[in-house]
Amino acid sequence: MKIAVPRETDAVETRVAATPDTVKKLVGLGATVAVEKNAGAKSRILDADFAAAGATIVDDAAGVYKDADVVLKVRRPAAAELKLMKSGAMVIATMDPHGNEKDVEAMAKAGVAAFAMEFMPRITRAQVMDVLSSQANLAGYQAVIEAAAEYDRAMPMMMTAAGTVPAARVFVMGAGVAGLQAIATARRLGAVVTATDVRPAAKEQVESLGAKFIAVEDEEFKQAETAGGYAKQMSEEYQKKQAELVASHIAKQDIVITTALIPGRPAPKLVSKEMLASMKDGSVLVDLAVERGGNVEGAKPGKVASVSGVKIVGHLNMAGRIGASASALYAKNLIAFLETMIDKETKALMPDWDDELVKATVLTRDGKVVHPAFAPAEA
Ligand code: NAI
Repeated sequence: MKIAVPRETDAVETRVAATPDTVKKLVGLGATVAVEKNAGAKSRILDADFAAAGATIVDDAAGVYKDADVVLKVRRPAAAELKLMKSGAMVIATMDPHGNEKDVEAMAKAGVAAFAMEFMPRITRAQVMDVLSSQANLAGYQAVIEAAAEYDRAMPMMMTAAGTVPAARVFVMGAGVAGLQAIATARRLGAVVTATDVRPAAKEQVESLGAKFIAVEDEEFKQAETAGGYAKQMSEEYQKKQAELVASHIAKQDIVITTALIPGRPAPKLVSKEMLASMKDGSVLVDLAVERGGNVEGAKPGKVASVSGVKIVGHLNMAGRIGASASALYAKNLIAFLETMIDKETKALMPDWDDELVKATVLTRDGKVVHPAFAPAEA
């Protein structure tokens, strides 16, 4: 069994899909591992560290992909990368398939079995494979660090002989995995933190982190969580009430971190231009939803925008801005999943195509798009 770990080709990608720890484990499982030269360079992993763990370092992508049975990647393979893979290879990555259906078809045509890690069911058995959680957690942390760097004042209250610096007021919108870590990080830095969400379960979680919960808690709010634990699209009436509440609160904030997402839909718009204009000069917003359309009006993907004297941070790939930590957790998520497909005794690759984790994540197989969300409807 040959496992390939290529260097990621996307310009904003710093992460790598394996670490020396996971390579060691794969070798122990009977695999040979080929890592492309400099694959870990942006995550502070040297080729020598991979080699010491038992990997072979290969100079170019063609050599890495050649004859590989399994490809471990961070991002969906590009057309040029697909060409280098053998038909029948398994590719495990964050596939971002929504809106990229043509690329999903290309993977089917290339004959690879593509697995989308972000579709991993959120059940106890698969917690260790949950890339959305591992990466969102780091993104939530990093969002606060980026905000602190853009903010021209201190975060904690400081009482000094020369005077008192007031604590920053931080408002976190969306209290899922990223939002909760943003709250915890802002609190550690000494900020006064408030947070909002549309799911009632979030209230207790926010309060347990020492932040104040602010939300329109009407009948619709009580029903806003799906069975899967996600938010629903809220009614226009609710959105109006929410906007009024946010408008009065946001004017008093120094830093706002937005993380609100609804699965399969564009991100809800939560902060309008009028709200931005009501904020103090020098306030900072970080829009973690920017890759899905953004929560903040005027946020620019990949840029720090300036609107009415307020900065809006729209960095892409926030978890990738702490690549070394992000790679360590991501690689662990991947190997935990791959391990379930390797027979311990024969050390052979033996995916159980009926396993719920496999069924939930496999997008393409045997030349076809097989995932129910993307497969062409049966005639
Ligand atoms: P997400 O990334 O889909 O969304 C982020 C947050 O935005 C959510 O809390 C959502 O309720 C909120 N949101 C959506 N629309 C909003 C609006 N209009 N205004 C304000 N907030 C809005 O969510 P994430 O981080 O993936 O978490 C979803 C749920 O899954 C949570 O309940 C989380 O605790 C749960 N979870 C469960 C796991 C498990 O293994 N059982 C693992 C990870 C998360």
